[in-house]
Amino acid sequence: MKINNRTVYKIFGSMAIVALVVSCGRGPNDPGTEYMPDMYVSQAYEPFSQLADGKNTVNADGKNMREAAPRTIAQGQLDYYYPYTVEQYDEALKNVKMPVEVARTAENLAIGKHFYDINCFPCHGDKGMGDGPVSVKFPPNNIPSYATDRIQTLAEGGMYHTIKYGKNLMGSYASVLTPTERWCVIQYVQYLAKKAKANAPAPAAANDTIKKVK
Ligand code: HEC
Repeated sequence: MKINNRTVYKIFGSMAIVALVVSCGRGPNDPGTEYMPDMYVSQAYEPFSQLADGKNTVNADGKNMREAAPRTIAQGQLDYYYPYTVEQYDEALKNVKMPVEVARTAENLAIGKHFYDINCFPCHGDKGMGDGPVSVKFPPNNIPSYATDRIQTLAEGGMYHTIKYGKNLMGSYASVLTPTERWCVIQYVQYLAKKAKANAPAPAAANDTIKKVK
């Protein structure tokens, strides 16, 4: 093609027409007429929704929003995923630890005491000897003293499982205590257990003595 003045006019002329058409908009935020809109607007799937027909062709399961990996815990959420079964109690015993977010500070211990005094004291007693005011309604030695070897060596994951789901005659505290509060209470239970051990030479006897005094 010969480049002469007419060609240059033609090129600039068509560029001006395209510019004019593209800039035709109804307001400052209107993109105007889009030439080949696919170039501007990609055919994206909405990330936080599912297609009614499940026809996402990229993901194998046809969903836009992927399922979280099993046992995923949301960021900032301190709860855990072990479901309410005996086997999962054992799993929790082995694997669940005090989260780093709930530091062992005097403040958290005080929060633990606050919630312990409200929720746990009626059965477990103020020193964790299993001698709270309600304990007289329970079969003898049913509420474990925190001085017993069982509680002394009980991993905190097991405590969490019990507080979350309950165990035999102890109910669940999941609706009453947030995960953080449960961990603070566990810190206080461990604190009481340490003190109980120091004050109780024979754990079973300690429990019996208290029952007799009542
Ligand atoms: C209604 C009485 C009652 C209340 C209230 C109660 N517990 Fe218990 N708790 C029990 C009994 C009974 C057991 C023994 C369960 C078993 O092993 O059969 C128990 C067991 C436990 C154990 C040992 C758990 C295990 O895995 O063996 C811990 C720790 C504990 N309680 C902590 C708490 C805390 C913390 C609270 C307050 C949030 C609380 N309990 C409130 C009655 C109670």
